[in-house]
Amino acid sequence: MTGEPISTVTERLTPADLDRAAALLRAGSLVSFPTETVYGLGADATNDRAVAAVFAAKERPRFNPLIVHVADSAAARRLVRFDARAERLAERFWPGPLTLVLPRAERCPVALLASAGLDSLAVRVPAHPLAEALLRAVGRPIAAPSANRSGRVSPTTAAHVLAELDGRIAAVLDGGPCPIGLESTVIDLTTQAATLLRPGGLVAEAIEATIGPLARAAPDENAPRSPGMLASHYAPALPLRLEARAVRPGEALLAFGPAVPPGAAAVHWLSRSGDLAEAAARLFAELRAVDRPEFGGIAVMPIPEHGLGLAINDRLRRAATR
Ligand code: TXA
Ligand code: MG
Repeated sequence: MTGEPISTVTERLTPADLDRAAALLRAGSLVSFPTETVYGLGADATNDRAVAAVFAAKERPRFNPLIVHVADSAAARRLVRFDARAERLAERFWPGPLTLVLPRAERCPVALLASAGLDSLAVRVPAHPLAEALLRAVGRPIAAPSANRSGRVSPTTAAHVLAELDGRIAAVLDGGPCPIGLESTVIDLTTQAATLLRPGGLVAEAIEATIGPLARAAPDENAPRSPGMLASHYAPALPLRLEARAVRPGEALLAFGPAVPPGAAAVHWLSRSGDLAEAAARLFAELRAVDRPEFGGIAVMPIPEHGLGLAINDRLRRAATR
């Protein structure tokens, strides 16, 4: 995007190297770090060049705004204007897998590029000890989309991050697998009716119990309110078939529950016991694991449409759209 070549040697950092990760971020370099949802591709949100480098490393269409991460809600209040709904949600669910889209504050120090031209900003406080320690050590808001190349599934381990971004980012901070494994739920509070832009790790029912009914953003290809809603955002290379009750020749099977149809070229369980939280945590890793040229396609058994099943099915439908 800047026309500069992106080439660097990616450092593998452990939690003991936290200060190194913080120093790289403060210097404007890109560092991937774990959150409770997925690995983020972090950049100093107040540094335009660093934010631009995120888009370049991901090869992400520029119109996609980024989520800005902070250590606590006091830090969020310096970036965006809270209303009563935001107060209640932050109080109840932060730190946690909830992103709030709010109007940018008057003297918001975050690069405009992170808002991709909108006068709103997406903020969240991650519930992960390493992410929190890193945010405190950096002392600045960190813009971090999921640490995958644009249009690919989100990474839930440091190895996934390296598979796509090795040589394009300064470092990856390895904190092990992400416990939730699905991105955060994104709520737009810039509108009169709070709107669910992206289902995610926090179930919509919990949010509705706090601030009342949510409007649902229609996934509109022409005018995406949240570009992450683009129908084909999460796409493996192989064709994906949903609601599969039988397997076709050559297909690998993503299984859910103990009763599995016969004949699959390979069986990978999202959850053998039929547990939605386990399936969510494994979803992206298993999608990657079966996305291999020796298979003719991927069949996914039916996933119930409630709780985290809504977000899992949302991701699967996107992955199936090509
Ligand atoms: O769990 C997560 O949210 C992860 C971790 C790293 O925190 N991050 C993540 O970021 O998934 P990303 O950039 O892959 O997804 C950001 C989502 C997109 O759907 C984007 O369009 C939406 O948030 N978004 C960000 N800023 C927005 C804004 N100002 N208005 C509307 N949607 C926004
Ligand atoms: Mg993403």
